[in-house]
Amino acid sequence: MVLTPGTSAPFDDLKAYKPWEVDGKYFGDGREIALLEYIYSHPLLHQLRGNPTNILAAIDTFAQTVTGLINIGETKGEIITPLILQNKPATMLELGGYIGYSAIMLGDALKQAGGKKYYSVEKNPLFAAVAASLVDLAGLNDTVRIIVGTGAEGIQRLFYDGSLQGKDSQLGMIFFDHHKPSYTADLKLCEQLGLVGAQTVLVADNMILPGNPPYAEWVRASIVEKKRMVADAPAAEILGNPNLQYRSRSVISFEPSGMEDALEITECVGISA
Ligand SMILES: C[S@@+](CC[C@H](N)C(=O)[O-])C[C@H]1O[C@@H](n2cnc3c(N)ncnc32)[C@H](O)[C@@H]1O
Repeated sequence: MVLTPGTSAPFDDLKAYKPWEVDGKYFGDGREIALLEYIYSHPLLHQLRGNPTNILAAIDTFAQTVTGLINIGETKGEIITPLILQNKPATMLELGGYIGYSAIMLGDALKQAGGKKYYSVEKNPLFAAVAASLVDLAGLNDTVRIIVGTGAEGIQRLFYDGSLQGKDSQLGMIFFDHHKPSYTADLKLCEQLGLVGAQTVLVADNMILPGNPPYAEWVRASIVEKKRMVADAPAAEILGNPNLQYRSRSVISFEPSGMEDALEITECVGISA
């Protein structure tokens, strides 16, 4: 499998979101409900229904003109979407769904690529409810399932309810965009449950803003180095599967506010016996 060479489009200042920070808050100050009201009172609502592209454009307009939102935005989306179209994952897991922007963008790409299910796990039930409503408006209910819970709770629920077992046991792609210190533990949980295999691609957001050294260390380590890390780990820690061989690279891109950031794109290229 060959990954698309990762190059970010230059940032278009005319499309910049408003600053996230308003009176010391970055989200959860009512802006998500305001977005829902904005979308459902949109004069062109009939053109948004069943049209993921138009819904994403309307969310972008809200964030450009009313209040900033912590979505991946168009520029990072232009890096991840081709990976989906190229790798054609049957199932994809997202950790950190917020109001559903990436679930609509990437879930639509997965559907176009012939994929079956996009699972989006979101800890905040209110954000998850907004996401579910927008996914429904986008006409993506058959593809995108929103799960309320932490990343670890969502992974375990999907595993033990049978959604990620049998022929769907390996995830084609995992998108990490939630609690930064949980990326490594949640990846290792997926590894340990057998959800990561030789076709899986991992995409991790915010590798510069704020950065995630433990995650970068794990996905860039050799099998020998990972076995050493596992041997040195405290007994209570989730150990993952050090036998998974990864090829990983950093791709510079931009937040929708225009700030420079990076995605870590990691391909599982084999499993050592
Ligand atoms: C940056 S936002 C995700 C943006 C979304 N992926 C998009 O681009 O549209 C991060 C989200 O992770 C959620 N979150 C925080 N900790 C979490 C956890 N442990 N498990 C799952 N979600 C979490 C937050 O509530 C927030 O909605």
